[in-house]
Amino acid sequence: RLTPPAAGGHVVITAGPTREALDPVRYLSKHALSNHSSGKMGFALAAAALEQGFRVTLISGPVTLATPAGVTRIDVTTAAEMHKAAMRLAPESDVFIGCAAVSDYRAAEIAEHKRKKTDDNTLTLTLAKNPDIIADVAGLDAAQRPPVVVGFAAETRRVERYAQDKLAGKALDMIVANDVSAAGLGFGSDDNAAWLLWRTGSGTESARQPPQPKTRLARAVLQRAIALLPA
Ligand code: C5P
Repeated sequence: RLTPPAAGGHVVITAGPTREALDPVRYLSKHALSNHSSGKMGFALAAAALEQGFRVTLISGPVTLATPAGVTRIDVTTAAEMHKAAMRLAPESDVFIGCAAVSDYRAAEIAEHKRKKTDDNTLTLTLAKNPDIIADVAGLDAAQRPPVVVGFAAETRRVERYAQDKLAGKALDMIVANDVSAAGLGFGSDDNAAWLLWRTGSGTESARQPPQPKTRLARAVLQRAIALLPA
């Protein structure tokens, strides 16, 4: 059991996928037409943070999971909505965890009516880039930036190396890098294996978490994040 955090500690977590409308009946998500994010890891993190005595807010995209009792949940659909909620809550959070599978792009224009199929064999869509939510949270000025910002990365190779790049590139304090190439792990499953990488005064440290239930991995992630909180 960990030491309870200082009273009033607040953990904010983004979870699940985002959806970007193309027209009134269709949407894009991060992984184009399929959707890999069940939200399980984000919800497990929320439960683990609650267990540690934190106040917890989940900013969740569309998922079919039950909200852990005691967690405040803000439902969003698009990356823009998730971004807005994240930027509003970031200044009042102690630990901010970006676990959502945010769609990197959205339709540049949402059609007012259902797009009709044509005889053409190709379809050209113009997409606009979505904001990088976790990078924007981590880039807030010192007065507003959460003391600990944690991101996730899903890689299929050179997991530690790419995670290192993302840690630096997004100015995070810690990153949880899943190896999603392993069968039965990651997207949609109940188990996960991961590398945890975190910044120290002088460089980066890392620890490998073997395959384990997401609920257990969530506790390990939280324990490490709490250790990064300033005394
Ligand atoms: O760059 P990539 O999508 O692999 O980075 C994953 C991390 O960045 C996750 O923590 C995810 O929640 C976050 N992210 C975000 N906003 C985006 C894209 C990713 O917060 N637009």
